Amino acid sequence: MTAKIIDGKALAQDTRQEIKQRVSQISKNQRVPCLAVVLVGENPASAVYVRNKIKACEEVGIKSLFEKLPAETSEKDLLSCIDRLNKDDTVDGILVQLPLPKQISEQKVIEAIRVDKDVDGFHLINVGALASGLDGFRPCTPSGVMRMLESINYPLSGKHALVIGRSNIVGKPMALMLLEKNATVTIAHSKTVNLKELAKSSDIIVVATGRQKTLTADMVKPDAVVIDVGINRDAQGKLCGDVDTEAVMQIAGHITPVPGGVGPMTIAMLLVNTLQAYERKFKD
Ligand code: GUN
Repeated sequence: MTAKIIDGKALAQDTRQEIKQRVSQISKNQRVPCLAVVLVGENPASAVYVRNKIKACEEVGIKSLFEKLPAETSEKDLLSCIDRLNKDDTVDGILVQLPLPKQISEQKVIEAIRVDKDVDGFHLINVGALASGLDGFRPCTPSGVMRMLESINYPLSGKHALVIGRSNIVGKPMALMLLEKNATVTIAHSKTVNLKELAKSSDIIVVATGRQKTLTADMVKPDAVVIDVGINRDAQGKLCGDVDTEAVMQIAGHITPVPGGVGPMTIAMLLVNTLQAYERKFKD
């Protein structure tokens, strides 16, 4: 038996369609939502991600404001750029693409973004809201994964979920979101000694290590749901995730492909958050 594919591309397309309709309605008598995207430096992967985010905004009618700053930008200059965007009433969401050049403190920059414009959900207040089960912006990648799990009507309550990777962007918020749905959650990381044993007893495995073949077929329980957050290039230069997909497909019940899995959902959730930032503002 081979695993069912969770088609992130199609699901993201549905989400984008819903947003497009809502933005089109809004545009009849109000300004449309606007996302400011800040890119510092020339990291090629970041440049691709940012381009895709801006393109996705255009497709649904969300306005985007692209702030491209040179690699040698000082922390002070980036903070004043953020201050300007914070004060601009026509900007609803602000995204500063990470990683940042090493002369800049990422944490300082994240904390400088207004909480109600923090569509990445990285600000301490939004992180705290998630940890406390309160409303706030939630990071896009784990939110996208939750939508993917909803799309297969997977009952998370009481299930053992393993999150491999403990980043602030994916692993930690992912674990909190699964916990909120009453899964029994384990977080594994590079120092975990019994990864295979943990994986083998898991109903859901989310892999976000940035390392190819972190999860191999011998680690997977039959019928498990496998979510691959990784985006890597293999020795042939082909895109691949963190999971040995071809082999794991033979064991798992569901699996997400790379490309066409979590990646498109991350971008779709950014649009959802941007629309939410806009709508919250107009509710007051
Ligand atoms: N770098 C890698 N993933 C992300 C993300 O989701 N948001 C931002 N701002 N930077 C990233």
